[in-house]
Amino acid sequence: MTIKPLIILPDPVLRQLSKPVERVDNDLRKLADDMLETMYDAPGIGLAAIQVGIPLRLLVIDLAKEGEEPAPMVVVNPEIVNSSDERSTYEEGCLSIPDYYAEVERPATVRAKFLDRDGKQQEITAEGLLATCLQHEIDHLNGVLFIDHISRLKRDMVMRKFKKLAKDRPPSRLVG
Ligand code: NI
Repeated sequence: MTIKPLIILPDPVLRQLSKPVERVDNDLRKLADDMLETMYDAPGIGLAAIQVGIPLRLLVIDLAKEGEEPAPMVVVNPEIVNSSDERSTYEEGCLSIPDYYAEVERPATVRAKFLDRDGKQQEITAEGLLATCLQHEIDHLNGVLFIDHISRLKRDMVMRKFKKLAKDRPPSRLVG
């Protein structure tokens, strides 16, 4: 497994719309494993393929706490089919926006359909942290970041900070 470089704000790649996965095959499973490795290394609890520069509707999640057995989830072509009116607030962060956290309000419960790592159709009802994490990661597939859900004033402050940081940082990707 390979740890992949993370795409960091304000890289415009993060705003790309990811395309549906056509086939869940060994190449896709290898990518999912690399994403899990990258996520565990960071560490984080969720990662979308676009965050390693690949615009596919694929994400990985593992909500196991430190000391618990890993519980990796591979989520392909997810679709939210129902969201609760009830809402909940979590302090969110993002591996593409390091060291920044803000409270985000989202539907407390979502029903989601997706393909698992074997390409099998799954449908789950997610609540609590899993509901928030799924929505955060599915947002990534649509080019949406959690800072889009906070006030414009706060978002502008974060954008300014990361634009300044990017100037002092060598480019993360080489486009040849
Ligand atoms: Ni994120």
